[in-house]
Amino acid sequence: MAETAHLRLGINIDHVATLRNARGGVDPDPMRAALLAQNAGADGITLHLREDRRHIRDADLDAVMEAVQIPVNLEMAATEEMRTIALAHRPHAVCLVPERREERTTEGGLNVAGDDNRLRDYITPLREAGARVSLFIAPDEAQVEAAARVGAPVIELHVGAYAEYCAEGNDAARDAELRRLFACAALGKELGLEVHAGHGLNFVNVGPIAAIPELVELNIGHFLVGEAVFVGLEAAIREMRRQMNLARL
Ligand code: PXP
Repeated sequence: MAETAHLRLGINIDHVATLRNARGGVDPDPMRAALLAQNAGADGITLHLREDRRHIRDADLDAVMEAVQIPVNLEMAATEEMRTIALAHRPHAVCLVPERREERTTEGGLNVAGDDNRLRDYITPLREAGARVSLFIAPDEAQVEAAARVGAPVIELHVGAYAEYCAEGNDAARDAELRRLFACAALGKELGLEVHAGHGLNFVNVGPIAAIPELVELNIGHFLVGEAVFVGLEAAIREMRRQMNLARL
């Protein structure tokens, strides 16, 4: 039977910033989304400060850190610039992700197994500053073992491939990926790691992931920002109608 401990939900607000930046200006404000997520019972706010600042910007990080009381998880590439920013802001958690400029989103996991020494040195000051350092990795046992070796206390399993197989209706590939995720979550826990998961989760595919007993946190963003259009657009239009009517009283 699945463990019934609370599975934390981290809300990734990056794509509120994507929408804002598409138009320029200040709307919609990612900080407002972070506060709304907090009010809705989110356990944490996740935001990815990319090197190209394509969605979240430095000022968003400042504003979110200032505004929310729940833990902030800063996703970033393992670069000197980002480490300096993380050390200055001291978020609760830092999740290291691979980053390529041309990608539309974080496409793969970190190659921890091929970069042990550098990552060990890289995360040491972050850990000493009190950040929960997490490594975003594909569900591959060699990567889980490498994450434990470099001294990261947390791993986040990349469930993007699983989400894609679900969307394609490729049941055999989905089930195989799910088996890898179960095995890696169990191995992570056995090695003393806290195990998170994220990427591409939605209402349809989240169930089997949320049932993996060793997981303690899911980070979800893009789908929720899209879904918010459908659950929120009607109310926004009604409010606009009301404001226009008020002006004509
Ligand atoms: N976790 C990590 C490490 C990510 O890079 C992302 C995407 O930015 C997410 C979770 C959230 O993925 P999605 O926006 O597809 O829900």
